[in-house]
Amino acid sequence: MTKKRVGVLISGRGSNLQALIDACGAPDFPAKIVLVVSNVPEAQGLVRAELAGIPTAAINHKDYPSREAFAAALDQALHSEEVELLCNAGFLRLHTEGFVTNWLNRHLNIHPSLLPAFKGLDTHRRVLEAGVTITGCSVHFVRCEMDSGPIVAQAAVAVQPGDSEESLSARVLQAEHHLYPHALKLVAGGILRVQGESVVGRTHPQAQPPLFSPPLD
Ligand code: GAR
Repeated sequence: MTKKRVGVLISGRGSNLQALIDACGAPDFPAKIVLVVSNVPEAQGLVRAELAGIPTAAINHKDYPSREAFAAALDQALHSEEVELLCNAGFLRLHTEGFVTNWLNRHLNIHPSLLPAFKGLDTHRRVLEAGVTITGCSVHFVRCEMDSGPIVAQAAVAVQPGDSEESLSARVLQAEHHLYPHALKLVAGGILRVQGESVVGRTHPQAQPPLFSPPLD
């Protein structure tokens, strides 16, 4: 099987990166991670990649005079490893329009809400303030606007009475760790693809949504 060459962009802890590394370890997984790039040199995720024997690069946005120059450096690193598919995994910088265009429909992001609700930062705090009873996580193709683009897969997570930001984010994160490998498998394996601004291929048996809401009483 030819595996898609995947690059992962991170800024921190890298627990979603770890879930992708673990999934890519399966012989029949249709992707392999060939480069992990962090814009934060001390990111814990870089250590996870090194432990897994994956090449890493720290490209600090603070070292570049403009967002465009930083994007060019990212592009160059990704091309040097012949990356075919790109995954944001807790990469907390907004991409330039040029970068988004270069990677159009070959670039995924994970966000800890049921998009298009609760885009942006402090997601779980805003979810709790809004009083919603179901939240979750989404994997989508990247577009210029933050946390927007054709949705590949989502998982629902119940908000429990008494949840704090910490307890809710931990529960959603568990769902993220299942969802991202699931979504990457579908895209890298060619089961789901973008047509216009929609994702098609959902009738495939492997594309069934993984729901995480506990059953109701
Ligand atoms: C994850 O919860 C991810 O969904 C979120 O950052 C966290 C990174 O954790 N991403 C966003 O909010 C993107 N808008 P991780 O470094 O442990 O994977």
